[in-house]
Amino acid sequence: MAKILAGKRIIFGVTGSIAAFKVAGWVSHLAKEEALVSVIMTESAQRFIAPLTFAALSGEKVYGAMFADDMSEPMAHIDLAQAASLLVIAPASAQTIARLAHGMADDLLSTTVLATRAPIIVCPAMNSKMYLHQATQENITKLRNFGYIVVDPDSGMMACKDDGPGRLVEWDSAQEIILRCLSDKPFLGKKILITAGPTREAIDPARFLSNRSSGKMGYALARAAYRGGADVTLVSGPTTLECPYGVERIEVETAEEMYSTVMEKSREASIIIKSAAVSDFRPTEIHTQKVKKDNIKTSLELQANPDILFELGQQADRNDKILVGFAAESANIEKEARKKLTRKNLDFIAVNNIKEEGSGFGVDTNKITLIDAEDTIHLPHTSKEETARLILESVATILKNKTR
Ligand SMILES: Cc1cc2nc3c(=O)[nH]c(=O)nc-3n(C[C@H](O)[C@H](O)[C@H](O)COP(=O)(O)O)c2cc1C
Repeated sequence: MAKILAGKRIIFGVTGSIAAFKVAGWVSHLAKEEALVSVIMTESAQRFIAPLTFAALSGEKVYGAMFADDMSEPMAHIDLAQAASLLVIAPASAQTIARLAHGMADDLLSTTVLATRAPIIVCPAMNSKMYLHQATQENITKLRNFGYIVVDPDSGMMACKDDGPGRLVEWDSAQEIILRCLSDKPFLGKKILITAGPTREAIDPARFLSNRSSGKMGYALARAAYRGGADVTLVSGPTTLECPYGVERIEVETAEEMYSTVMEKSREASIIIKSAAVSDFRPTEIHTQKVKKDNIKTSLELQANPDILFELGQQADRNDKILVGFAAESANIEKEARKKLTRKNLDFIAVNNIKEEGSGFGVDTNKITLIDAEDTIHLPHTSKEETARLILESVATILKNKTR
């Protein structure tokens, strides 16, 4: 997470929803990432979960009443509002959403919301009929028009046994929204196209040619690009990974499918990062029925797949874009990568030695070298998440220089 949260003051509003217990975990995660968390609980929220829980997890005082008996902080709503880097309201009850939509200031949380100019994230949680009621929907639209980020709740079985939208969003998603909100957003307004995973080239309905790519590196890049404020499209070969929050994923299987999707989507992208391991070859013939053991040939005739990265590098609008390639090499790493950099007309290439332990396919770590026309930068052996962040830092530097 690269310490985006460290030292940031987050005002965390908890309201009277049955989901209040879930956000104890959120506060704990934020505190572990060294965020400074001030929890404000509505009166109703305190009926669902004890303030002591949040005090223990955040390591800070928990705020409740507007007019507290303790006079040490007579203007808490103004002090909290001014100190805030971000305000998160989770779970946000229908009542609090209505209160905020009407600009009311009848408790500490709503007064702080009016007094702050920090970004505000609202995570509704309620029965699905309450959520879908026209009154709630209109209130949510109002909040969005105020510029608040209202997160769509999850759908599913609720505590009240109703099934539908209204469940508090999961922490994994909320975390991504918080990180995007607090990042410097170097890619705000930019469309980034990322490819990930392997491709599969069918031999018959049961068998295919593929490679060991897990897609983890590309998915980490997509996550990091979203956090950096980008509008992200991920073209993914078959993987078992979940689509990162906020990312548009297009699933493909073959190199030819990846080629046509990437070519179409590349028109609107200003940054393209090709981390997919596309099969260089496909079988010349695809059998429509499973080939029986007795009929199997001992050799497989292959034909070349389109070279997507090469074609992207030759496009007429090439210079309007940033183009980054990946190379997985097992010998003469730097030399091979430089050849690819030049031939494919890339801004830079990220290369790894797939023979090195903890680097490349399948594992959660990587050891990448970034090579451009002038420089060679050896990134540390670290998580794919951190590697993605460092790669995007280099992309952000190029972008900055381009727009200067
Ligand atoms: C057991 C129980 C569970 C409730 N769960 C929710 C809920 O998930 N979402 C919601 O909007 N209201 C829920 N309510 C109703 C709110 O607590 C009520 O509207 C309250 O006035 C909210 O006040 P607040 O927004 O100031 O916290 C629940 C009430 C009870 C008794």
